[in-house]
Amino acid sequence: MLTFPDKKEITSEEIKAALDFSSAQVIRNLDTFTYSFQKAYSENGFYQPIPNDYWTTGFWTGEIWLAYEHTGDKRLKRAGEIQIDSFLERIDKKNAVDHHDMGFLYSPSCVAGYKLIGSTKGREAAIKAADQLISRYHPVGEFIQAWGPMDAPENYRLIIDCLLNLPLLYWATEETGDAKYKEIAEKHIHTALANVIREDYSTWHTFFFDMKTGAPDHGATCQGYRDGSAWARGQAWGVYGTALGYKYTHREEYIDIFKNVCEYFLTHLPEDMVPYWDLEFTDGSDEPRDSSSASIAACGMLEMSKYMTKEDAAHYTKIARQMVKSVYDNYAVKDEKQSNGLVLHSTYSKHSPYNTCNHYGVDECNSWGDYFYMEALTRLEKDWVLYW
Ligand code: GLY
Repeated sequence: MLTFPDKKEITSEEIKAALDFSSAQVIRNLDTFTYSFQKAYSENGFYQPIPNDYWTTGFWTGEIWLAYEHTGDKRLKRAGEIQIDSFLERIDKKNAVDHHDMGFLYSPSCVAGYKLIGSTKGREAAIKAADQLISRYHPVGEFIQAWGPMDAPENYRLIIDCLLNLPLLYWATEETGDAKYKEIAEKHIHTALANVIREDYSTWHTFFFDMKTGAPDHGATCQGYRDGSAWARGQAWGVYGTALGYKYTHREEYIDIFKNVCEYFLTHLPEDMVPYWDLEFTDGSDEPRDSSSASIAACGMLEMSKYMTKEDAAHYTKIARQMVKSVYDNYAVKDEKQSNGLVLHSTYSKHSPYNTCNHYGVDECNSWGDYFYMEALTRLEKDWVLYW
């Protein structure tokens, strides 16, 4: 297993300083972002407000809850409650929920609010979101479709990111006693891991199935550089997604999958342990980084460490601490005049001649990069009760 002997780990003092600054930054943002949400990505370092109609808005609410956990500040609690009202209205009106990102939206906002302050509206909204998510399940192929109308062959695919949407389903089963949510999660994770992971443990971003037979058809990228490369964030979703998969299923084979997918990620990092936006690129490249992938992978390593042997747990915890140290030292915002976000140099969606995505949020803060940075710090500060 790869180690990074010359890299420093983040200290307790640095974790506290980082969470103090992040929480203060979230509080400063409440004036603008209580009845509105942060756009998915910053522009020249600053987020603009948007309504609750995009797949990323739950991350901002998640930052509010993490800051509330850190400070106990009542203004944060009130803002989180106001945002939960918005999420309940959104799912009731079925506003912009025709996709699979119900977990990204409803776990860090509404499940979090229910767990932290007993919000009954949060519980109601999150169960409705779980119902919405399972409505996208295809028994033919046994997967949850990511995007677009359900009856078109060009949409008959899953994407690796969906692993983070599944905890909402496990939570819904625990909460309601109805096994249907968990059963669909288990079908999906099995199909996903059987198909998105390549022989060398790099990963496909998206994978298509035959609409008539459900047979696996082919992998393709959307946000990675090219079909055969490994999109950094997809690989990071794979790291955290298999850790969460293990948490909920305890399937022994997921430990090995985790180790191998993680090793691919780690062996393709540049010197400072924060990946370029695609793992094809490394030191010397002038392509932008995706700092969010480092925080996501760190959260996955810290989660998986709970279920491993002492030696393995120490190994992955150390790497997570080293990675978060680099994000803190080299990427985190330290002055509110520089940005109203938390972590710079992230990449949402970079168009290349070989991929199919739009071009936006390149080398900026993004909402999940900020959220997972705070989550990683919180995990390092205490025994954190997951929102996932
Ligand atoms: N889930 C979409 C992304 O990671 O950009």
